[in-house]
Amino acid sequence: MKLNIAVLPGDGIGPEVTAEAVKVLKAIAMEFNHVFTFDYGLIGASAIDKDGIPLPDTSLELCKKADAILFGAIGEPKYDNDPYAKIRPEQGLLKLRKELDLFTNIRPVIAYEDLLNNSPLKRKYIKDVNICIYRELTGGIYFGDKKVSEDGNNASDICEYSRFEIERIAHMAFKAAQSRKQKLTLIDKANVLESSRLWRKVVKELASQYPDVTLDFLFIDNAAMQVITNPKQFDVILTENMFGDIISEEASVIVGSIGLLASASIGDTHAMFEPIHGTYTTARNKGIANPIAAILSAAMLLDHFGLYDEASLVREGVDKALKLHITTPDLNTKYDNISTSKVGDFIEDFINNPDETNLN
Ligand code: IPM
Repeated sequence: MKLNIAVLPGDGIGPEVTAEAVKVLKAIAMEFNHVFTFDYGLIGASAIDKDGIPLPDTSLELCKKADAILFGAIGEPKYDNDPYAKIRPEQGLLKLRKELDLFTNIRPVIAYEDLLNNSPLKRKYIKDVNICIYRELTGGIYFGDKKVSEDGNNASDICEYSRFEIERIAHMAFKAAQSRKQKLTLIDKANVLESSRLWRKVVKELASQYPDVTLDFLFIDNAAMQVITNPKQFDVILTENMFGDIISEEASVIVGSIGLLASASIGDTHAMFEPIHGTYTTARNKGIANPIAAILSAAMLLDHFGLYDEASLVREGVDKALKLHITTPDLNTKYDNISTSKVGDFIEDFINNPDETNLN
């Protein structure tokens, strides 16, 4: 298969972890006789530094033309701490999601047997957890009208959803549940928010088309507690943009490190793959950033194109790395000197030679 992949490494540790994902995809291409090409573009703070804007047209065009996009991370503390900044790195990512209509963000949360002790949560609660979060990505409060009064003392962000926006992701989440444990949980705040009541109404209506799926509902405040006190109850979670952002980051506690969580952002015509972690700028260029979330995002890219054997091989490589403690320091495992690129090298070697790869 020929795939033209746009690579937007972004800021902070983005370039380091993305390099390992590209390394792994190149190994897969070699092993399975695919032709993957990689074209790089700027986004975020690095684009602002060079071009004054967070998503230059060249990067957007690159992504529009590509079969898939591999994205790193975005953000810089100097913007986080400056409420007056009008141009911000995150605007680049939000614009990209909107322009490409990447409305469904899929975030798997899978507890690895070998890492159960890395989580601050008790083993018995997290063993065998396998949740898939469907987060709406192009609507809600992130994209509603924003206003600041002239004197700067009032501000508002509107949270708005349409039936159409809810239906299209809900269908995807129901279908995912059908192929998993047939359970879908909608997380909302329908006791308070009109937009949440619309979600509940629309999702309830669609449920009749998926009689094999059990649908239940949780308010976000309750869900925030349940996701770490009883995560095994969940199969597929469906939720709106901001609740999904927060609940998925919370769920990473189950897995032991946010450096392990991958995601796919899917629309009707484009698809982007990115780790859910941020830029972790204090780790930049130290070789300590965990590349596994980026590598697992590359596996999701392979799945997206039906390259299931290829994706499985990447995941087997990740499993073996975790089993042999070939991991970065965030996982506090046996060795303290395994760098970002060493993890990538190991998985690359595994792909080239699955039966013989060991730590050397
Ligand atoms: C994420 C990030 C983004 C979001 C930021 C960087 C805009 O936190 O992908 O989860 O809030 O969606």
